Amino acid sequence: MRFHILTLFPDMVEQGLHTSIIGRAVEKGLLAIEAVNIRDYTVDKHKKVDDYPYGGGAGMVMQAEPVYQCYEAVKKKIETKALLSNPGTRKNPRVIYLSPQGKTFNQTMAEEFAQEEDLVFLCGHYEGIDERVLNEVITDYVSIGDYVLTGGELPAMIMIDAISRLVPGVLHNDVSAEFESFQDNLLEYPQYTRPQTYLGMSVPEVLTSGNHQNIDKWRKEQSLAITKANRPDLLEE
Ligand code: ADE
Repeated sequence: MRFHILTLFPDMVEQGLHTSIIGRAVEKGLLAIEAVNIRDYTVDKHKKVDDYPYGGGAGMVMQAEPVYQCYEAVKKKIETKALLSNPGTRKNPRVIYLSPQGKTFNQTMAEEFAQEEDLVFLCGHYEGIDERVLNEVITDYVSIGDYVLTGGELPAMIMIDAISRLVPGVLHNDVSAEFESFQDNLLEYPQYTRPQTYLGMSVPEVLTSGNHQNIDKWRKEQSLAITKANRPDLLEE
């Protein structure tokens, strides 16, 4: 799977995503992560990419043209690769704009995005991006939660992390992506490892009993209780 991130801060994205599990998956060739600098696509001699908002107001707005040219370059690259590996197929990639106005990201969306070959992320800054280029290129508006961040880079990185771990081979055992939080809309049960007693607290007896039927039952009950206490909205869905 290939991720293309259109950003004014490519280093932030590259550095953040080339470590740990995701970094290893890139090295193995399971994932490709390419951050593209929108500033490289401005024709302004001072490399300016923003301007004052029409109608007034605080802050600056990212201009349409550098964003559009950056998108066109990435799209061309994706099409060239697709034509080489799969002649006859031609479809525009999904282009995600990170914004608090978008649909809230969740596990179901991660699973859906994980089916794509290529995903493009557009990260805004300042007071946003000229609406006309968004209308032209964006297929999905996504928020990572009801709070406002300074830019779309961290949300893009969060989404890429959540999507990547669903790509076959990225996690060590595919089972660990199956039995986890949000499976059947339930949160995960508590986990324990050695030593059996820590700070005077013992591991629940059932987990050392060797009776797997009882262990499964206990875990299911714990999942339900935690979900009921922390996220009752998940049970209502
Ligand atoms: N950009 C700024 N805040 C954001 C949020 N909560 N989600 C996605 N993108 C954002």
